[in-house]
Amino acid sequence: MRTEPADPSASVADPLAGRRILVGISGSIAAVKLPLVVSALAQRGAEVRCVLTPSAAQLVSPVALASLSRQSCCLDADQWSHRASRPLHVELAEWAELVLVAPLSATSLGRWVHGLADTLLASTLLATEAPVLAAAAMNTAMWAAPAVRRNWELLQADGRVLPLGPASGLLACDRRGDGRMAEPPLLLLALECLQLWGCRQDWAGQRLLVTAGPTREPLDPARCLTNPSSGRMGVVLAQAARLRGAEVTLVHGPLAVDPQLLEGLRCEPVETAAQMEQALVRLQPGADAIAMAAAVADHRRQEPLAQKLSKEALERELACGWQAVPDLLAGLVARRPAGQRILGFAAQSGDVLPAARAKWVRKGCDLLFANPIDQVGAGFGGDTNQGWLLGGPAGEQRLERGSKLAIAQQLLTALRAVS
Ligand code: CTP
Repeated sequence: MRTEPADPSASVADPLAGRRILVGISGSIAAVKLPLVVSALAQRGAEVRCVLTPSAAQLVSPVALASLSRQSCCLDADQWSHRASRPLHVELAEWAELVLVAPLSATSLGRWVHGLADTLLASTLLATEAPVLAAAAMNTAMWAAPAVRRNWELLQADGRVLPLGPASGLLACDRRGDGRMAEPPLLLLALECLQLWGCRQDWAGQRLLVTAGPTREPLDPARCLTNPSSGRMGVVLAQAARLRGAEVTLVHGPLAVDPQLLEGLRCEPVETAAQMEQALVRLQPGADAIAMAAAVADHRRQEPLAQKLSKEALERELACGWQAVPDLLAGLVARRPAGQRILGFAAQSGDVLPAARAKWVRKGCDLLFANPIDQVGAGFGGDTNQGWLLGGPAGEQRLERGSKLAIAQQLLTALRAVS
């Protein structure tokens, strides 16, 4: 007898499972976060090998990394050996299918872009042909220094590298500013993007406006009308677009995703549909494309009440006093400037396609992604999704169940192609 797996996402192939991933760690205090990343990769079934620069080995334990990666850790002293038939940097460079350099220090960045091969990590980076995700971390003034700016630009021009600039925040040197390495959840998401899409920057020069999450419509100080959307689909779509080169603005309701996944996005948090509508009216003219992934509430109270209602009063209240929320997506379509591409989403239960076809016609957007919300491994909350894309080059296209990121990549490709 066939049974559904306990974890609905378990049967969907993880893009990082089985991949050979080389993790290069250089000398910045952010190196202390790498054991978390290495452990997560190993638990997801990736083969992981770590290379540390001498300064990194002072900050994070090679013994811990060897244990977490289930492989011996590689240091400069291991590079040449009379027992090895090939130099270690060449062996590692050819073994790797994906490379993560995190943290990338100012020194390692400089070595790399100027072709200096005087550490095991530097030689390996020069020798590898695998795509590399590079997450910079350093002191704010160092990051702003003209020499580092020039080196970072050189790295950005390298078509085999996906550079992840640092975030702003409190640094270990007690300064506040740019320099914090992307947090582990974002590093893992970006690695997944690298595996699925490589370093191609097909959204470069494009401004994408994304909405995500539910809206929350207050009734009284103790109650509201909302829905179970976590916002994950919109957030991963926004990050994937950013990593494909887009300038992304994310308008989002109250989210239930790791806030570290929002790093690097220009965020406009809102609560109600009215606030979302105001943000959209303001931001729409500056967008080349829009992805309306938010689960906007359908009704709201004309005026939220200042006092909490009693149960009896609530019953009377629910029978009247509510108004329909205007359709924000239809409004975007009605106001759109020439050339703006719009992707809508549809949450469906039951037979997805007939309802989705009618919704696509009614909303008038270029593309509509319709996903079931009453099936295992799709819809609200989880890590996976599936559904139908209407309006793409293939007409009605079935998107098989995959991670929300894998679905987002397909939607971005279709949205970019709308003429
Ligand atoms: N949407 C919107 N404004 C609303 C309701 C929905 O902009 N007031 C957008 C959603 O962001 C999504 C699309 O319309 O992109 C479809 O949303 P969905 O909830 O599936 O459909 P509804 O229009 O609410 O219709 P129904 O509830 O009847 O399925």
